[in-house]
Amino acid sequence: MQVIVAKDYDELSRWAAEAVAAQILEKPDSVLGLATGGTPLGMYRELKRMHQEGKLDLARVKTFNLDEYIGLPADHPESYHHYMQENFFRHVNLPADQAHVPDGTAGDLAVECQRYEEMIQAAGSIDLQVLGIGANGHIGFNEPGTEFGAVTHVLSLDPRTVKANARFFGSEDQVPRQAISMGIKTIMKSRKIILLASGTDKAEAIMRTVTGPVTVDMPASILQLHPNVTLLVDKAAAAFLKLDGGQMSVNC
Ligand code: F6R
Repeated sequence: MQVIVAKDYDELSRWAAEAVAAQILEKPDSVLGLATGGTPLGMYRELKRMHQEGKLDLARVKTFNLDEYIGLPADHPESYHHYMQENFFRHVNLPADQAHVPDGTAGDLAVECQRYEEMIQAAGSIDLQVLGIGANGHIGFNEPGTEFGAVTHVLSLDPRTVKANARFFGSEDQVPRQAISMGIKTIMKSRKIILLASGTDKAEAIMRTVTGPVTVDMPASILQLHPNVTLLVDKAAAAFLKLDGGQMSVNC
């Protein structure tokens, strides 16, 4: 596991976008795993800029988002479908049928989970997965306690996640209580992972991800067992790490 500390959120966002762009340059038909939430917004802004400057071609890329709320239609302003359209998809040349987000309105959610998981595997699984992290250590919506062997599944949001995401919905009451998420097993099959974290409220989760025991109580700690993970964090999120010149390599 490698940890790289950016001086601020803008630098973090640039580095994240550069990692995605490098992946696409190296393999133009890459399969990307994508995250939503506040943290990757700067990365999507940078990717959009690179595309507008003619430096990024997504014509052959496929994308799979990590998660979606249950019950929100694609055009709901807080659905992850809508987030991806507004912040990324509609600004770049990614063909619509190559961009995938789980369907939280599916009549049979178990079938939808299976369909989504099979699509990822049929695409050859994920080349580069972009992750954020919850203050409680969740990745995707794999909340503390989720078994590491889970593939795409339906889950209940942790009260801490409902509280954190209320900022997007206006109030806690409006936040859906359930979601579909890729499982930890799905995420761990990715060939390369970058995890982005910004701000002091992520500092404890980052410290426990890097140095703590591997435990389902801190889902991101499983990343210690993945062969190719880079944590891109800003100084605030790195506050509890002992670092040597802004970089850290941990042999797990
Ligand atoms: C979103 C996702 C979540 C977020 C996490 C952090 O697709 O999978 O794990 O990455 O909740 O969210 P922000 O970036 O809003 O702090």
